[in-house]
Amino acid sequence: MTVNDAISQLKDIIASSSHLVAFTGAGLSAESGIPTYRGEGGLWTKYDPAKYANIDYFHKDPSYYWSFFRDVRYPVLKKAQPNAAHYALVELEKRGTLIQVITQNIDGLHQEAGQEDVIELHGNTRRIICLDCGKEYTIDEVYGMLKHEHPPSCPCGGRLKPDVVFFGEPLPQLALEKARDAALDCDSFLVLGSSLVVTPAAHFPRLAKENGAALIIVNLDETPLDTIADLVIHGKAGEVLSGVIEYGGNSINWD
Ligand code: OAD
Repeated sequence: MTVNDAISQLKDIIASSSHLVAFTGAGLSAESGIPTYRGEGGLWTKYDPAKYANIDYFHKDPSYYWSFFRDVRYPVLKKAQPNAAHYALVELEKRGTLIQVITQNIDGLHQEAGQEDVIELHGNTRRIICLDCGKEYTIDEVYGMLKHEHPPSCPCGGRLKPDVVFFGEPLPQLALEKARDAALDCDSFLVLGSSLVVTPAAHFPRLAKENGAALIIVNLDETPLDTIADLVIHGKAGEVLSGVIEYGGNSINWD
């Protein structure tokens, strides 16, 4: 099957779907300039997640994370804008086809694009919280603090932590429950830009498929669930969705 045939099949599935769920991973934001975690140039090939994204290590020595935040995470986030894939999902939500976005991404770009209903399974790195008093800080505030204090702390003396799920931490219970409900309630489950190797998040596509939904996977590389999917497209999420939903500037027209 050619990519064009696959895109045309995806168009048909979306057109006949009334309860579509989109499940997104780092590949969705790659076209916004945010590096993925795995694969060529992936963050975890340069930064050991056992030091930069592990809760025990963070408590032992938070300076690794905050250097990573200052030198890598912050500059990338400041520049990143939603891409065609984010806007296509907003359009599908407006049309009532898309009932839920479940994301593993922590960059906030779905919301930036205007998506209303987003389940963040792994939190959001744009929120930074004090572990003692709960005060919330923006990334700009903390970036400023880092010029004077590294690692940064709250005036109450508490330690600051990005509101993301580190390895070794449980996922937010409410998000898990909502994601499970959506996976059980949908007729099509569209995976976009995820390697599908991190659990429990990667259980949701299988759950949806086992419950009768059509499973579609759009990813540059192969995933462990390709063999059970109804349709697999190896391509860039933004390019593929642009083929399905014509996107021009901020307005999207169906062709
Ligand atoms: P990964 O980095 O594991 O996988 C991203 C996938 O996107 C890869 O399989 C690429 O082939 C694919 N890809 C790259 N560019 C793409 C594009 N333009 N269009 C489509 N696909 C593209 O990212 P996730 O699966 O999201 O967790 O990773 C899951 C979790 O692992 C993350 O949420 C993060 C990480 O450790 C935490 O931080 C808790």
